[in-house]
Amino acid sequence: MELEVRLCASTDEYAAASSVIEQYVGEEVDAEKAERYLRILPLERMHAAFVDGSLVGAAGAHRFDLSVPGGRVPCAGITAVGVQPTHRRRGVLRALMRAQLDATHALGEPLAALWASEETIYERYGYGLASWSGQIEAARDHAQFAHPLERRGTIRLVGPGEARTLVAPVWEELMAQRPGVFSRSPEWWELRVIADRHERRGGAGPKRFVVAERDGAVRGYAIYRHKPSWQHGVPAGELRVWEAIGADGRATAELWRYLLDLDWTATIHGSLLPPDHPLFLLVAEPRRLRYRRGDGLWIRLVDVETALAARTYASDEPIVLEVADAFCPWNAGRWRLGGGAVARTDTEPDLRLDVAALGSAYLGGISFRELAEALRVEELRPGSVERADATFRARAHPWCPEIF
Ligand SMILES: CC(C)(COP(=O)(O)OP(=O)(O)OC[C@H]1O[C@@H](n2cnc3c(N)ncnc32)[C@H](O)[C@@H]1OP(=O)(O)O)[C@@H](O)C(=O)NCCC(=O)NCCS
Repeated sequence: MELEVRLCASTDEYAAASSVIEQYVGEEVDAEKAERYLRILPLERMHAAFVDGSLVGAAGAHRFDLSVPGGRVPCAGITAVGVQPTHRRRGVLRALMRAQLDATHALGEPLAALWASEETIYERYGYGLASWSGQIEAARDHAQFAHPLERRGTIRLVGPGEARTLVAPVWEELMAQRPGVFSRSPEWWELRVIADRHERRGGAGPKRFVVAERDGAVRGYAIYRHKPSWQHGVPAGELRVWEAIGADGRATAELWRYLLDLDWTATIHGSLLPPDHPLFLLVAEPRRLRYRRGDGLWIRLVDVETALAARTYASDEPIVLEVADAFCPWNAGRWRLGGGAVARTDTEPDLRLDVAALGSAYLGGISFRELAEALRVEELRPGSVERADATFRARAHPWCPEIF
């Protein structure tokens, strides 16, 4: 078997590469769809794997910025990874990951991030689980708030044209407040957020857009679909919240009060919510939200030195990390972090860990204590786990509200 991995060289190859993952999600790629994909994932970021000349696998990388504590970092957003069922378990994914991480490194993007279809796939390539994320299935009958909400401002239904101009600044505010949020280009907003294709409706109605306004400013927005139905003469409909983002706690509360109160609804579905979302303390019966938590964003430090230097820290106390990185050996070694500076060092390390564990800690979502207790970090000097946590701590849990 002769295996070659390279970037797609034509739109035909690109369409074939995209169709590998599409077949797993039960869809097809036609010329129009490939054209649409090309607007957000360019040809030169789509790797394809060929066995004896036939395209059998693919892996793409969006180029965006990811919010990290204290700033934003260029990041490869890994997507469309798939290997044809006829060629599984022969090392095709490994070859794709090799080519993709080498290319990301060469492009100077210090981070790669992804959503994993299965948790067992990516750690071997240095990705670490960096955030928790979950879905709710709330019963409208049990969705009252613990304290009555004194309404301030208004919720206004808007059409897609108006939504297009109003919602992006709220997202920017979210990026400033939370790690784990990726920047959306105008094409992304158009094709992935505002667009409302029939085949995506899943039996529900069109996308509805509302904005939460206060003192003349848009402070939040929600996008949702309603699937009305009736059973035994009473409403049994579903509200599917596609995205609900508040730039502050009040806007978040106003939006969720609106969403939880919509008539002809029995259950409200929301997904990709972080475990510290304000909703859990707003409602009187958090148990009734039926929150189910799973893995969220996975982070790979492609260039440990640049990535560590790109975020801010809650403490300046120095800490020395001994990092193992079998897949990207340029990262392996001892790194001293202190006062915002990062440098290679020969001094004795405080902590020993794999690059995947460092990816877990990077956004501040998973603590070194948790990692140490799960045997993923070795404490070589007493007290250094606590010191590392005081340093890497972030203001809020990472939140990536969309699977890319
Ligand atoms: C997941 C997928 C890409 C793996 O491709 P592949 O070419 O079979 O993977 P490889 O042969 O290169 O395997 C690489 C390693 O990962 C392991 N592996 C691959 N898929 C795995 C899975 N689903 N669960 C556990 N381990 C897996 C292999 O056992 C192998 O381990 P090793 O390096 O220790 O020997 C492929 O099965 C696929 O396309 N699945 C459906 C689509 C999908 O889930 N894509 C990922 C989207 S995020």
